[in-house]
Amino acid sequence: MKEQPTPCVDRELVLAQLDFCREKVDALLPRFGSSFPAPSSEGLIYPTQEENFDWTTSFFSGMLWLLWEHTGDGKYLDALEPQLHSFYERVEKPGNVDTHDLGFLYSLSCYPAALLRQDRRARDCFLKAADHLLARYFPKAGILQAWGDLNDPANRGRMIIDCLMNLPLLYQAARLTGREEYRSAAYSHAKRAQRYLVRPDDTTFHTFYMDVDTGEPRFGRTAQGYSDSSCWARGQAWGVYGFALSFHHTGDRSFLDTSCRLLDYFLARLPEDGVCYWDLCFTDGDEPRDSSAAAILCCGILELLRHLPLTHPRRGDYEAALHRILASLARDYTTRDTLRADGLLLHGVYSKPDGIGVDECMIWGDYYYMEALFRLLYGTCAYWL
Ligand code: GLY
Repeated sequence: MKEQPTPCVDRELVLAQLDFCREKVDALLPRFGSSFPAPSSEGLIYPTQEENFDWTTSFFSGMLWLLWEHTGDGKYLDALEPQLHSFYERVEKPGNVDTHDLGFLYSLSCYPAALLRQDRRARDCFLKAADHLLARYFPKAGILQAWGDLNDPANRGRMIIDCLMNLPLLYQAARLTGREEYRSAAYSHAKRAQRYLVRPDDTTFHTFYMDVDTGEPRFGRTAQGYSDSSCWARGQAWGVYGFALSFHHTGDRSFLDTSCRLLDYFLARLPEDGVCYWDLCFTDGDEPRDSSAAAILCCGILELLRHLPLTHPRRGDYEAALHRILASLARDYTTRDTLRADGLLLHGVYSKPDGIGVDECMIWGDYYYMEALFRLLYGTCAYWL
């Protein structure tokens, strides 16, 4: 990444961007009552998902929570009601809880309701989700299986870097109930992720197979990256943010070091405008960018900065990178000047190898963009803490 003067993201810009986000979300409200925007747009328009089955349904709820906190406008609570109801139902449906993504799903829907509104039903559903996630823990291997049925040979013992963002569900459940097994499973998983998903050169595997009978490591594989040995940009961003969160929840300083190492690698692979390509093996050329990875990275840097001492030698560089990436997203990647678009951020990628959602809006990219702005204004975001 070439040295450039740092563009400053100031309060005025953040407020203007949050106004833009609010206008976009307000325009979506009539369309998504108890239904959800699909994970990625098609021609920049989000198809509607009537069923609450994907890993992404809570991101719209998360955006509503952020807007309610930011504005205090009760219309966001009204909009959240049917969404929450759908999450209450989902946690009771066997097929819809066979995934580690319960963290994304319940940390952004029921947890804020329990935390900010003292909602008992939301709290109970949140804890049920934590139980479903805990059931995916293999004690011998010390990991949570990411996808699918626990006996499916294609998925058995497979952990993925994204799961670091699902661990807050367990850490939070431990704090709410006093039950240590939630915390120890999350901590063990984070330690295995640190050991096996992070490579010696500070890149990450997207997924890694463990032998759940012997506990031995097997091999790494990509699912959404360019190759098994490349570094999928969004995975690396999940790692920066996820290890910083595991530090917050456990106090294990090695997670902070890992988060910094992954971030250093990420920043060294950025193109001129600071917004990464979809895989960090690309640093220039015509490959698609992934603005959603850039937005996640901004949130990860902001969480990391909450914990790094003022004297940390890289602190100034991380702050400069944050300003640079966020200013670039705000200036060149939003849909502000696009005539017809549902999302907030242009140029995201869901899965390039599968040809899904390439150069489109991603609903999680929109969420993390808003979360980054919210963090810049209020200092933190309680949903993961
Ligand atoms: N967690 C799935 C993804 O980032 O695409």
